[in-house]
Amino acid sequence: MRVLAQPHPSVYSLLSSADISELVASIKECQEVPLRFSYFGEGAHKWDEHTTFLNSSAATNSYTVTRRFFEQNLDRLGSLWHDDAKVEIVDLGAGNGLPARIVVEWLLGAGRLHRYVAVDSSREMLRIVEQNMAAWFDGTVTFDPVELDLSRSCFGDRIGEQVNDKTGDRIKRVVLHLGGTLFNLPDPDSALSLVCRG
Ligand SMILES: C[S@@+](CC[C@H](N)C(=O)[O-])C[C@H]1O[C@@H](n2cnc3c(N)ncnc32)[C@H](O)[C@@H]1O
Repeated sequence: MRVLAQPHPSVYSLLSSADISELVASIKECQEVPLRFSYFGEGAHKWDEHTTFLNSSAATNSYTVTRRFFEQNLDRLGSLWHDDAKVEIVDLGAGNGLPARIVVEWLLGAGRLHRYVAVDSSREMLRIVEQNMAAWFDGTVTFDPVELDLSRSCFGDRIGEQVNDKTGDRIKRVVLHLGGTLFNLPDPDSALSLVCRG
């Protein structure tokens, strides 16, 4: 027996026609919905609530562990990041920006942050991280959102290189790929080869 399933009307406002083609192809070929769509629309707010809860929890979880790692290692990492040069953070699969916050804070405090670039395929997630960065840092962080599917596109092609006005040097780039983002991608190896090109 064939059953005709109609998508909820909101699907047509949340997804582009290319997204819909990808969704249909994935259901046909793999019988699954690509994970990246779970962060669209309301899904972005659910992720924001969930991770805000985890981040403030006293229990050990990936957020508290990541924060501790950066607390213990930022001085060392910062010296590897080209001494006192200006740095741009590119956060791949940024989510709501929570794990990257401490890195941005550290660079800002050292007067070394050029800008924070959030790369994510969810427009709503990008809106949330933009609001978070503005609230956490009183609007002092230059924020650039890039809506992009890491499985298909190279972020470097989209963001280009930035130059320090005073010295003429290229702004150094630190790429973060935190949390379980890699495991959201259908083919992590090919996505990573695109990331490396960036
Ligand atoms: C597991 S969350 C991790 C978020 C953040 N890095 C963290 O550690 O809290 C995955 C994030 O990557 C985004 N994402 C998932 N698949 C993606 C894809 N193919 N291209 C770009 N972003 C993607 C989601 O929208 C979501 O914000």
